[in-house]
Amino acid sequence: MIRTKVMGLGSYVPDRIVKNEEIPFLDEKHVRQATKQTETDDEWIQRRTGIKERRYVPQDGTTATSDLALEAAKRAIADAGLQPTDIDCIILGTLSPDIHFPGTAVFVQKKLGIADKTNCACFDIRQQCSSFVYGMQMADAFVRTGMYKRILLIGAELHSHSLDYSTRGRDVMVLFGDGAGAMVLGPMETDDAKAGIMYTSAHADGNGAMDLYLKIFEIAKAPYVGYDANNRDENQIKYPQMDGKRVFLNAVRGMVMSTQAALAKTGLSWDDITWFVPHQANLRINEKVVEVAKIPPEKVLNTIDLFGNTTAATVPLTIDYWRQQGKVKKGDRILSSVFGSGFTWGAAIFQV
Ligand code: ACO
Repeated sequence: MIRTKVMGLGSYVPDRIVKNEEIPFLDEKHVRQATKQTETDDEWIQRRTGIKERRYVPQDGTTATSDLALEAAKRAIADAGLQPTDIDCIILGTLSPDIHFPGTAVFVQKKLGIADKTNCACFDIRQQCSSFVYGMQMADAFVRTGMYKRILLIGAELHSHSLDYSTRGRDVMVLFGDGAGAMVLGPMETDDAKAGIMYTSAHADGNGAMDLYLKIFEIAKAPYVGYDANNRDENQIKYPQMDGKRVFLNAVRGMVMSTQAALAKTGLSWDDITWFVPHQANLRINEKVVEVAKIPPEKVLNTIDLFGNTTAATVPLTIDYWRQQGKVKKGDRILSSVFGSGFTWGAAIFQV
């Protein structure tokens, strides 16, 4: 029987570390100023979110989301022992695409140097923080039906250029960081029903669509891009808007439900799971999920303190970080649950 296995894993974060102490002093181009630009502080950020620092790309116009994705992709392909030309499909999740269209996967394909060398299909998916699990479900179906054989699944985000570095935007701004993670997925022949990707689930509830969103434009209107620097309400079109409390409550509910369903539907218990890797939105969300779903705390892997919320990238970035620290090992079985804008959520059980 054909099942899907994780052949390679890689991640990338930019070099610049932005600690909470620096956040209040950043201007709208995230350049540090001598005076406070935003009313926030390390104590508030750590207590409410668990975040201590995050990574930002340079703001000199040289780095796009596809560049972060490229570095993670190269590392995952090398980890799989493959060449870029072996990849026959790219699935890329991001809420911060290089430009509105075309999707970012084609830019990664070009930067990998395989645009004119292979027949490599490119998909962009837009499930925000749930993208990696949604993408894994797609990739698993593609591999098991024989549609594609070497799928590059990427989650990549460049948040730092689209945040509101003023007191008005502080609730959202302090949460997000830049980064990317990737996996190469391919087929294996096995009778072991627990091998490789064992389970994926994907859910959505569009009633939550406007509880966490970034407009940039509204196609229903003409002109469809409205921007007036003097009009505060119009200006908000540039920045993410969030009802933090509704997101928080729904995230806990969605991640608990999908985690419990993953175990119930596979018949596994926590004894069969090596690590629980939740989406990294807020440490308090993850602690609540662990408490309600009765997850053994020693099995939980987080990186929110180091990287903040990197949205589509959090799951592979967290797994790869802890692999580099020597915790995650080849063959470990991971249960991941995610929640994001949409609302979207889901879970997956897979071996790395
Ligand atoms: N620094 C200082 N004070 C702040 C900040 C900040 N960065 N942000 C908000 N505050 C203030 C508020 O203005 C408010 O002040 P007030 O009492 O004078 O009105 C006070 O802090 C409390 O604000 P709340 O919104 O009630 O704080 P809460 O405990 O709900 O925490 C937070 C806010 C951290 C945003 C929380 O709601 C949360 O984490 N929600 C989930 C957000 C999230 O994870 N989003 C992304 C997930 S989905 C995805 O990843 C796409």
